[in-house]
Order: sequence, then structure tokens, then C-alpha cells
Amino acid sequence: MAETVLITGGAGFIGRHLAQAALAGGYRVRVLDSLIEQVHGGTKRPKGLPDGVEFMAGDVRDARAMARAVKGVDKVVHLAAEVGVGQSMYAVDRYVATNDLGTGVLFQCLIEHPVKRVVVASSMSIYGEGLYRGRDGALHEDVLRGPRGADGSWDPADAAGVPLVPVPTPEWKRPALASVYAITKFVQERLTLTLAPAYGMEGVALRLWNAYGPGQALSNPYTGVLAIFASRIHNGKPPVIFEDGQQLRDFVHVEDVARAFLLALDEPKAVGGVFNIGSGEHRTVNEVATLLASAMNRDDIRPEIAGVARAGDIRHCIPDLAKARAELGFEPRCDFKAGLAELAAWVAEQQADDRVTEARKELEARGLVA
Ligand code: UD1
Repeated sequence: MAETVLITGGAGFIGRHLAQAALAGGYRVRVLDSLIEQVHGGTKRPKGLPDGVEFMAGDVRDARAMARAVKGVDKVVHLAAEVGVGQSMYAVDRYVATNDLGTGVLFQCLIEHPVKRVVVASSMSIYGEGLYRGRDGALHEDVLRGPRGADGSWDPADAAGVPLVPVPTPEWKRPALASVYAITKFVQERLTLTLAPAYGMEGVALRLWNAYGPGQALSNPYTGVLAIFASRIHNGKPPVIFEDGQQLRDFVHVEDVARAFLLALDEPKAVGGVFNIGSGEHRTVNEVATLLASAMNRDDIRPEIAGVARAGDIRHCIPDLAKARAELGFEPRCDFKAGLAELAAWVAEQQADDRVTEARKELEARGLVA
């Protein structure tokens, strides 16, 4: 008989794509989701969940809802989380409650109803600054972002002021938790990898880089940068770029992320492991802003450089995918330009409320941009 997978937060952006992929992979799929207003715009019915998914409305902090959701399932993918790095720095109680208490409630229920495997969505944000190499070739694991350098550079530098060069970050790099969001993601990851084996279950954590693709919450001003930029451009406004826009990220298509979760649900070698999931290609925020405007046929819209940094943000972090390739069998397949074209075509059909200015004011009022 087909196995049943519970996806917490499964009505969200990654969850809907994963639900589709899991159905196609032969799973029965159950989703537990509270449809938070910031993401789902106040709807009571989940939009875009594929036919055949069993939907349960409920909050991960609610033990009764969770107990119902875990009953009879074989595997769990735990995606339910608050996801804004900037917002986590002031909505502290909400982030800690949903992300960490929510994971605690999940495991409390799993003690009663153990499953075969639990896969948790962790984040590259737990690394803080990624791995860097110095002039002498030495690797720097514990880079901290200081104030802006005397030359106006945002890049971390060595003691002599020479910029360090970002290199792909492997899973062994020590975490450096630079935001409330990162702290909560690390706790989720550790709870999973500690509690699953203690109760005879298999635990796996995926450290995701910046997921993008059709179905992102365009009207959520606290979501990922590509969705925010798409919403701005769609409304004829320039994307606002923090720092100088030269910060590096890895943008991974949501279909690749969904595939990584399916592998993490099945692969025997994955048990107990943490895996970086990205596209293997890094880009600056400036580059993605320009490429996206072009994909949306709005080359006339030039990004605006804010010249200030958001508290909790890191400068550069790019993934080393060697472990995911070797042990998970993960190989990113989606081409970035094709992905942007697909995103642009989808955005053109959407209505997106631009609430970015409000969100920026929330940060400014609390001194969280400087
Ligand atoms: C994002 C996700 C986080 C996920 C992580 C994995 C969100 C809100 N955050 O964090 O959940 O775990 O990826 O990699 O989805 N930027 C601008 N202008 C804007 C918004 C952002 O310049 O309007 C910049 C930021 O300062 C940052 C970069 O874009 O330098 C990426 O920001 P963001 O999309 O929030 O991603 P992460 O912080 O990397």
C-alpha cells in the first residue's frame, strides 16, 4: 500500500510543489496548514493544492490539530515556519513560537505516533556568513560582519582590511546564528536530528538556499527577494536593493527543492544527515534584479540601491553541494534564465499588492536598517 506523507505548512510555496511531486512519486499526501494571513491573504481554502491532497486546517502549535495530523502517516516533511529574516528580528515571540514550539509539538505527538522518517526544512541562514578564503589561502570559518569598511565596502575583510573571498560553504562549517530566524531554524534542525533517533525514527535536515519559482507569495513583503522584486516590477516600481547589491546568494528553483525533499524521504544514506540544497550557481542581488526586470520585459525599470543593510542579513553565502550529490543523489536541473522566464510568465497573470514600503518602515522604526 502507498505510504502517506504529512507535509506541515504544505499549503505554502514549497509545500504545494512538494505535494505535487510526492503524489507523482506514489505517496498519499496529507497537509497541515494554518493558512496565515501574511502568506495566504485571509483565504480559508488553500489555493493551488493539487487534487488528491488531504487538507487539514490547523496550527503546528496546537497539540490537538497536530495529533490528528500525524495519526496514520508514515513520514513527515516539516515545512511549517515563519520565514522572514528581517521580520524575525522584531516579531520574536511569533517566530520562536511557530518555529520552535511548533517543532516541539510535532515531536511530542510523534513520541505517541512514531513515523519512519522526518525531514525538516533547515536553512543556509544558520551558517551566518559563509566560508571565506583569505589572501594567504587560509579558510575563515568564523567571519563576522563588522561595520562598513573605511573604503565603503560591505565585504568582510581580514585584520589588514583586505576583503576575504567567499567560497562554497560545506555542511561542516560551524553555524553562526545571526538572526532570530536562523536561531529558530537551527533549533528545528537539532530537535529533529536529536529526537528522531531517540524514538526509533529517521531524521534528515535540508539546508535550503533561496528558493524561487511560480507560486511565491507575491503580496508578502517579508518573503524572498525574487518575489519581492517581481511584485515591485509588476507594479511598475523599482526593486529596492539593500547594501550595494553585490551580496551573493544561490537561487534554487522550487522544483529542484521538491525533488531534494523526495530524495530525503527515501534515500537510506541520508539518515541522520544535513544537506545543502541549492542550484550550484551563485549570483549577486543586482544581477538577479536586472535579469528579472528583463524577463518581465521591463528593462526600463532600474533597481534603486538603498545603501543600507538589514539587521540580521549576511553578506555572502553560497553552497557546496558535494555532500548532497554524493549521499542524497541530488543534482539541480533547472536553468536560472528559464526559471525566471517561467516566473515572469506566472507573475504576469497575478495580482500582487506592493507592501514593501510598509515593511521597510517597520524595520526603520526599530532601527533595524543602517
Ligand atoms: C531567504 C529566506 C529564508 C531562507 C533563506 C535560505 C525569505 C524571507 N527568507 O533568506 O527563509 O531560509 O533564504 O537561503 O524568504 N534584499 C534586497 N531587497 C529586498 C529584499 C531583500 O536587496 O527588498 C536582499 C537582502 O538584503 C539579502 C538578499 O536580498 O541580501 C536576500 O534576501 P532574502 O530573499 O530575504 O533571503 P535570505 O535572507 O537569504
